[in-house]
Amino acid sequence: MTLRADTNADVPRRVSAAFRAEFPGDAPRVFFAPGRVNLIGAHLDYSGGDVLPLAVDLGVYVAARLRDDGVFRLRSLDQPERVDVVLSGLGDVREPGHGWAAFPLGVAREFARVTGFADGADLFFGGDLPMASGMSSSAAIAVATAVALDACTGSGLERLAIARLAHRAETGYVQVECGIMDQFASALARAGHALLLHCADESFEHVAIHGSGFEVLVMDTKKPRTLAESAFNARVWECREAHAVLRERVRELPWLAQYTAADLERAGDGLTSVLRDRATHVVEEMARVAAAVRLLDAGDVDGFGALVHQSHRSTATRYAVSCAELDVITDLACAQTATFGARLTGAGFGGCAIALVEPGASESVVAPVREGFLARFGVEPGFRVLNAGPGPRELEG
Ligand code: GLA
Repeated sequence: MTLRADTNADVPRRVSAAFRAEFPGDAPRVFFAPGRVNLIGAHLDYSGGDVLPLAVDLGVYVAARLRDDGVFRLRSLDQPERVDVVLSGLGDVREPGHGWAAFPLGVAREFARVTGFADGADLFFGGDLPMASGMSSSAAIAVATAVALDACTGSGLERLAIARLAHRAETGYVQVECGIMDQFASALARAGHALLLHCADESFEHVAIHGSGFEVLVMDTKKPRTLAESAFNARVWECREAHAVLRERVRELPWLAQYTAADLERAGDGLTSVLRDRATHVVEEMARVAAAVRLLDAGDVDGFGALVHQSHRSTATRYAVSCAELDVITDLACAQTATFGARLTGAGFGGCAIALVEPGASESVVAPVREGFLARFGVEPGFRVLNAGPGPRELEG
């Protein structure tokens, strides 16, 4: 069994060949942006909390060439929609018929707004991330588009500006209520490091992961995240509501994640039991992230892993974004002695979980997890050991 199969090499070649067949002319330039898993800090970004994502060595590739007529032609190896539009003719929000192409179009609009760019581009996408499974394929598409437009136009935007631009495209044009974690994790990644991102003020630091005494095993439940968007938005609104109660009843702080357990006490029955559960997750998860970073720094992988598993339990119980498949796969993984901890990654509701495993021991974890999961759900999960990969880049021609 190969858990580290190198599928990457083939995708950029296929993207480039598909581009040439579809758009004859000069050779395109090819760019990559990574997806991410989140080690800890679940659903904290939109509440102004701290998160610890890790860019992975899987992601999205785009072959790109500028045009001079304001037209965007968008294609993907994996998606059916083929979209040709005049950028200046688009409205302020995505058109349903554009499907996945809303992400690059949203980025192109933001890029035009920031840089004054008025030309067009031919873009052909492909990737090796499982789509819509909690590893941020959409942020990788957005960041790859921004990096390609930036390089092809010679605009020289900073990576931080690219991260912000990609995030605005998603919350604005695409109309997703997401926080900043995914776009920042992709755009600002450094190989061998996780990104400790303080979402309240967008400051960040890179935390060394290489040599930390664990490897990251991704476990794909294959459970589609059908209700993910509406359930995700519901959590965002619940957190806003809890924040409003705390501001009114207890004290005025800019973000929900900045309140304490004592503040929640003081709010009394102002918080319904559901809002109290959500806010308690946020406040406790903040403390877990801080403790987790200290343990990582001290080389205490057992302690770090235990917090990662507590994070999962809290997202399942107080935050209610897990599902039977994610609970079972994380429990099965944690039952193996080589596993330090496991949790869902991304929004939840299906898709992938991660397990932190002793280096080189993933195969021994995979066998019983696969067997147990198959017996319970009749579905063969996917497994892959991932590395903390570098950020976006252009591939050699
Ligand atoms: C999704 C969102 C992120 C973040 C996570 C949950 O991936 O896009 O902004 O909220 O869920 O941690």
